[in-house]
Amino acid sequence: MKTVVRSAVVGLAALLVLGGCELGSKETVQRGYRGTAMELVIVPEDRVAHVNANQPPEPSPPMPAAGPKAGDIYQNVEILGDLSVTEFTRLMASITEWVAPEEGCNYCHNPQNLADDSKYQKKVARAMIAMTQRTNEAWKDHVGSTGVTCYTCHRGNNIPTNVWAEDPGPERARGMVGQTPQNYASAAVGMSSLPYDPFTTMLGGERDIGGVQADSALPQGHPTDLRDAEWTYALMMHFSQSLGVNCTYCHNSRAFNQWDQASPAKVTAWHGIRMVREINSKFIEPTTPWLPEHRKGPLGDALKTNCKTCHQGAYKPLYGAEMLQYYPNLAELGKDVDDLELFED
Ligand code: HEC
Ligand code: HEC
Ligand code: HEC
Ligand code: HEC
Repeated sequence: MKTVVRSAVVGLAALLVLGGCELGSKETVQRGYRGTAMELVIVPEDRVAHVNANQPPEPSPPMPAAGPKAGDIYQNVEILGDLSVTEFTRLMASITEWVAPEEGCNYCHNPQNLADDSKYQKKVARAMIAMTQRTNEAWKDHVGSTGVTCYTCHRGNNIPTNVWAEDPGPERARGMVGQTPQNYASAAVGMSSLPYDPFTTMLGGERDIGGVQADSALPQGHPTDLRDAEWTYALMMHFSQSLGVNCTYCHNSRAFNQWDQASPAKVTAWHGIRMVREINSKFIEPTTPWLPEHRKGPLGDALKTNCKTCHQGAYKPLYGAEMLQYYPNLAELGKDVDDLELFED
């Protein structure tokens, strides 16, 4: 009896000690030059399950671009007017499958009058179409020819699973005026106690990332503001989590601030940061006045995009499946963002 109790205690202790470890066999993949120890650690079984869960849907059959244009036939098309009516109908069907498969066309439309804009969902969808086209056209340095469709973020959900809003956090974590709210295990930053909302300032706003490692000796080389370091590390935890990679996927960790020792993925990520800022500031924040309360965050702002909204744990969304090639109508906006009149009424 005693032995049983003792082994149970030992077993429990082992569980507690190992509780912080990820079980299962690991593999490492070399990322940088030999000897730089830039390795990616993966758990093969988890990776296989994740790849299977991140596959794109079958593309629908293409439609001819010839024939009457949607802009000539329909009454209220602002973005998709140049599509042929058959292409337009195909895109409406795909959008329904990607964003509102259960609700159908009426999720956005008043069935009595498809031209009517009374549903906020339709107005948001119009901004989303423009945003998707703009992203594919202007941010090739990030999305390449792989590109994005509504499915990249939505995956059959009305609202993508991974979104963020300004986070007031729990009262106890707020600290004194001027302090960075932090010090509780937040899922947004990998359960670290770093500032739990690096998004508002760095992906909603344009606060500089970095200021961590000095290029020269003190005092000139001193980091300007300790908060920059904390916010930067918090955001970096998010990068790693969103892409399912270690820090060394992008950095040589002996010199986080050196570009010439980093992998090309760091450059892609740099463009990604700027792309996300544009998505949030030009296409999502302006929808705020249309949104019902339950579609806003606790402080009343719209639900926004970060790296995880598209990547969802994969180093490339949908593991690099080139879905955009089947939906060329989403490849270009053909207008400057500032010339759009989407948010005027
Ligand atoms: C996720 C929202 C959404 C869903 C779901 C949706 N639509 Fe649309 N629909 C739009 C938007 C946005 C426009 C306006 C496009 C523009 O301004 O270029 C539009 C415009 C239209 C128009 C043009 C109406 C006019 O006279 O101006 C038709 C027709 C249409 N949709 C049919 C459909 C059909 C059929 C379905 C279901 C298979 C569908 N839509 C599902 C968002 C949606
Ligand atoms: C980069 C990621 C991303 C892509 C790509 C994207 N969306 Fe969204 N979508 C979001 C986010 C974030 C929200 C929440 C913000 C909001 O409501 O304005 C949202 C909200 C919506 C909503 C509002 C739904 C509701 O119930 O409140 C509709 C409709 C929508 N998207 C349609 C589309 C369509 C159609 C496309 C493709 C043309 C698309 N989205 C592409 C991120 C994305
Ligand atoms: C997907 C690529 C990627 C991953 C993964 C990543 N980083 Fe970064 N990191 C960047 C980019 C890009 C910048 C520069 C951002 C800028 O200048 O706007 C950066 C900047 C930094 C800086 C600031 C360096 C300076 O200039 O002072 C530090 C420190 C840093 N990262 C640490 C980390 C740590 C720690 C991890 C892992 C938890 C990590 N990074 C994961 C891409 C990445
Ligand atoms: C709108 C969707 C979207 C968002 C948001 C997004 N990405 Fe990406 N990202 C992509 C696509 C698509 C690719 C694949 C590009 C290709 O195949 O060349 C990609 C590729 C990458 C790569 C290159 C991976 C490799 O192995 O070459 C890195 C690194 C990356 N993203 C980092 C980020 C970071 C960091 C963020 C947040 C700041 C971010 N991404 C936000 C769509 C997105």
